[in-house]
Order: sequence, then structure tokens, then C-alpha cells
Amino acid sequence: MELLREEPHGTTKAFYLSSAVWMVFGTLAGFTGAVQLIAPELLGNIPWIVFGRIRPIHTNAVIFGFVGSALIGSAHYLVPTLVRTPLYSERLGKITVWLWNLAVVLGTLTLSLGFSQNREYAEWIWPVDVIVMASLGLGFYNLLQTVKRREEEILYVSVWYIFGAFVFTAFIYFFGNAMWNPFTGSITGIPDGILAWFYGHGVVGLFLTPFAVAIAYYIIPITCRAPLYSHSLSLLGFWSLLMIYTHIGTHHILQAPTPTWLKVIAITGSIAMLVPVAAVLINLWLTMRGRIPYILGDTGGKFVLAGTVWYLLTCIQGPLQALPVVQRITHFNNWVVAHAHMGVLGFSGIIALGGIYFILPRITGRPLHSKFLADMQYWLVLLGMSGFFTVLTAAGLIQGHGWLNGETVYRMLPEIHPYMVLRLSVGILIVSGAFIGLYNIYMSLYGFKTGRKAS
Ligand code: HEM
Ligand code: HEM
Repeated sequence: MELLREEPHGTTKAFYLSSAVWMVFGTLAGFTGAVQLIAPELLGNIPWIVFGRIRPIHTNAVIFGFVGSALIGSAHYLVPTLVRTPLYSERLGKITVWLWNLAVVLGTLTLSLGFSQNREYAEWIWPVDVIVMASLGLGFYNLLQTVKRREEEILYVSVWYIFGAFVFTAFIYFFGNAMWNPFTGSITGIPDGILAWFYGHGVVGLFLTPFAVAIAYYIIPITCRAPLYSHSLSLLGFWSLLMIYTHIGTHHILQAPTPTWLKVIAITGSIAMLVPVAAVLINLWLTMRGRIPYILGDTGGKFVLAGTVWYLLTCIQGPLQALPVVQRITHFNNWVVAHAHMGVLGFSGIIALGGIYFILPRITGRPLHSKFLADMQYWLVLLGMSGFFTVLTAAGLIQGHGWLNGETVYRMLPEIHPYMVLRLSVGILIVSGAFIGLYNIYMSLYGFKTGRKAS
């Protein structure tokens, strides 16, 4: 069947194209939400895209559709390459891609029709959850079979992170979505809040983070032509991520009546997160010491380097904003939205794009369709992201201080209006970057001219 046609690296190619399409769709959905935050009546309250629906449509499309597809696609290239064995089954890989896309499409449609589990990042309803689990399971099986047949004895750290990511994600997805309760996707009371945020932070810390770190660990040493600084440090980063990240989700609900001991674990664990983060960043940056020009000379490497800088910023901010004294100002406002975009777009999204641009020429055997367009997307996304960070952080601080001084929510809305307009404006940069990326990735995959050789 054409849809399941087997070709070398077909799975990775299909995941990359999906990612590019979902980036366009997801950023347009975010753009629609941003319009509504400025002019709530402008779109005439069309039911399918009212803010309460377009927001989760946006977040799930970008997390699972854009970033998720690119990361899993790269995993299907990295594991076979690192163990020097072809992917066990490209056909199984294609089924994985189709199921993943089916989940994002069905999740989007059902959300727009008003079907939601109403828990952040776990909004998709049960049948969609089942498809996500099936896709993850197939991806895991396919890569495991590849590793079982491997030519290479040593498992490089990226392989550890990729398998970790599959196992952690399946675990948090099943429990976080309370999949044994198909009709609600939840349990009851405060335990449900705890479970929901065990999942919510797990999605970024145990799904996006390990996949993105795996890609950075692969691309940085190659682009700067130096061996990884320390394998021990990479293992410290892996195990400490698993040990610490898993139980700090309650830092999202410090204002709720969750048990104090759990809040203490969440806050101290958030500070301890500096260990896995520092282990990764020190390791990568010492690998690049004195060799940054090499990385900047490579399109994919450049994205990955920028992603590591955003990782640092996100993870300096994260432990700080887990402190109750800081959250008095930063919680419940646009400060957190800035942090969310820094982590999901600035860190994992930009590294996901870096993975695509680094790996594409290697799987097509040709150079990118346009290095210029890739560079342009790099700058558009980077400028847009920096603008988001500045504008949303400022808006958040204004809101937070207003509320601390006893102002009501509605009296703060006119104060942040100009910032919402600015957010929409810089958002256009990111949306444009998404369109350029889709064109460039599509053309790199299918629009090649004959006679051009891979660089
Ligand atoms: C691929 C790039 C993007 C990613 C990965 C991304 C990710 C996210 C995430 C994770 C959230 C949840 C924030 C939270 O709950 O704290 C969010 C919310 C949001 N994003 Fe994006 N986003 C992207 C691009 C955009 C663009 C281009 C716009 C439009 C200008 C946009 C507008 C919004 C809006 C309006 C919200 C809701 C904020 C609120 O509830 O106040 N996003 N996005
Ligand atoms: C050292 C690591 C990190 C720590 C300690 C941390 C801490 C936090 C805290 C305390 C919040 C809740 C803020 C509030 O509601 O007041 C939060 C929100 C968030 N974080 Fe992080 N963070 C870290 C890294 C990351 C990374 C790497 C990502 C993305 C890959 C990320 C994505 C998010 C998102 C999307 C939210 C918004 C959740 C929501 O919708 O409310 N964080 N983080």
C-alpha cells in the first residue's frame, strides 16, 4: 500500500513532514487565540474556535504535532545510526507515523467539537489517548528490535535518553490521563490535581526534554568535531533527571490544599533540578569549547546551540518560580506563559528543528533545498521567541504586582492590552517561520533538482 511504502528512512521523513505541517497549524491556532485575547468579539464567537477550545488545540498541536513528531522522527534516525543497524521495520515505522498523526487530527477535531478531559495537556479524550499509546508502543518496539539486532556494542547516551523518553512518556501518559477511567480521564478531588500535574510537568520534562537532549548529545559532538566531554556526566544527567523530575509536578499547584510534605518535595526537587540540567549543559558546552564557529557554520548545529541557551534560561527561571515567595507574583499570569514558550519552543522546539535540518541532508542524500530559508526560519523563530519572552514576562509582572496590591483581574486587563497586541505582532514572526519551514522541508524531501549532491 502506497501509504505504508517502505523506503530507507521513510519513517523519519514522514515524521518530519508531519512536524512541519503541525507547526504551521499549531502556530496559526496560537495566533487565533492571541487575536481573541485582544479582541474577544472579532471572530464572532464561532463555537469551534472559542478561546477555551483553541487554546488546548494550540498547545496539543505544538507539543505533540510539531515538537513531538520532529523528536520521534529524529529518534527513528538516531537509534539505527548509533547502533549501526537499519531500522527493524520501516513499515511499522510508517504505521507509527500514521497513528501519531491520527491522534493529533482526532484530538484537534474532538476538542473543537467541545469534547475535552479538561486537564491541561491531557485534554484529548480516551479514544485519542489509546491511539497515542499504540503509536508510542509501536515506536518503542521497532527501536527495541533494532537495538536487539545491533552491530555496535556500546550504547551511546542518546540511545539511553531515547529509550528513557519512550518508557517515561508511556508511563506518565497512561497514569496522567487516568486511562482506566475512560469516561472522565480523571480521578477525583485533590489527588486528581496532583496526578494531573504529575502528568503536566512530565510531558515537558520526561517526554520533550529527554528526546531533545538525545538530539543535542548527537549533533553537538559531530558539528564541533570533538568527542563528548564526559560520558560519566551524561549518565549523571540521565539518572538524576529520572530521579528528580518525576515528583516535582506539585510545584504547579502550590496554592491548592495539597499536603505540605508534597509541596516541600516539589520545591526542593525543583531546586535540585539544577543537577541534571547543569550536567547536560556543562557536558555539551565543554565539548564545544573553542569550537563554536564550527557549530555556527552548520544549520542544524546552530539551532541546537540556540536551544541549549534557552534550556539554561528556562531552567534558571524554573527553580526560582517554584519558590512560594516568587510565585506570589508570577503564578496565574503571563509570566508562566512566557516560561512555557521558552521551554516548549525555545528549548525543545528549536532543538527539534535543529534535528530536522541536521538529519534531512543525511537521509535524502542531498543538501537542504535552501540553507538561506533555514537560516531565515532560525532568525524568525529566535526573534519571535525573544519577543515572546520579553513581552509576556513584562505583562506577567504587571499582572502579578497588580494582584498583589489588591487590584481585581478585570482592572488589570487594560494594563496588559498593549502587551497582548505586541505578542500578536511578534507571533507573526514565528508563524512566518513555520510557513517557511514547511516549504523548505517539503522541497528538501520531494522537490529536489537532479544533479545536486549532499554537502
Ligand atoms: C511552535 C511554537 C509555539 C509553541 C511550542 C507554543 C507553546 C505554547 C504552550 C506550551 C502554551 C501553554 C502556556 C501555559 O499554559 O502557560 C501556549 C499558550 C499560548 N500560546 Fe503558544 N506556542 C507557540 C507559538 C505561538 C504563537 C505563534 C502564538 C501566537 C501569537 C501563540 C499564542 C499562544 C496563546 C494565545 C496561548 C494561551 C495563553 C493564555 O492562556 O493566556 N503561541 N503556547
Ligand atoms: C529546572 C527545570 C524546571 C523547573 C524547576 C520548572 C518549574 C516550573 C514551575 C514551578 C512551573 C509552574 C509555574 C506556576 O504555575 O506558577 C512551570 C511551568 C511550566 N513549565 Fe517549567 N520548569 C523547568 C523546566 C521546564 C522545561 C525544560 C520546560 C519545557 C520543555 C518547561 C515547561 C513548562 C510549561 C509548559 C509550564 C506551564 C504549565 C502550565 O500550563 O501552567 N519547564 N515550570
